[in-house]
Amino acid sequence: TKILLLNGPNLNLLGRREPEVYGYQTLPEIVSDITALAAKDDVNIEHLQSNAEHELINAIHETDADFIIINPGAFTHTSIALRDALLGVAIPFLEIHLSNVHAREPFRQHSYLSDVAIGVICGFGAQGYEFALQAALRHLQKSA
Ligand code: DQA
Repeated sequence: TKILLLNGPNLNLLGRREPEVYGYQTLPEIVSDITALAAKDDVNIEHLQSNAEHELINAIHETDADFIIINPGAFTHTSIALRDALLGVAIPFLEIHLSNVHAREPFRQHSYLSDVAIGVICGFGAQGYEFALQAALRHLQKSA
């Protein structure tokens, strides 16, 4: 079983980027934690962080993963192309945000992905990635 984990623009700055909003954990720490957790269930995590929309789209097109966990960063609020890529490959996915986007600026309250996602996790910081993994595993068990 393989899960593709995608992190969008500026998430490479985690740890020093507005830590009061996004926390102090770095992206490599978050990714290594969930990779280790997934390994316990024999699940392989493939990870890509990119600041470029087309790289995220290409990764979606090229993956043979069973499930996608995506933190699209600001592309959440702008990208019809990411939505179309996810619909195009028809791989079930979950949207995740570190911050509670609903408690922030109004422009963060619309997502181009949420209505076609299996679910959305937001506001739990780095812990949200663990919840996302759990939800993905449960989803994959149900559909197996
Ligand atoms: C984010 C929320 C987005 O609104 C923002 O543009 C990000 C990070 C989050 O994880 O909370 O870059 O996706």
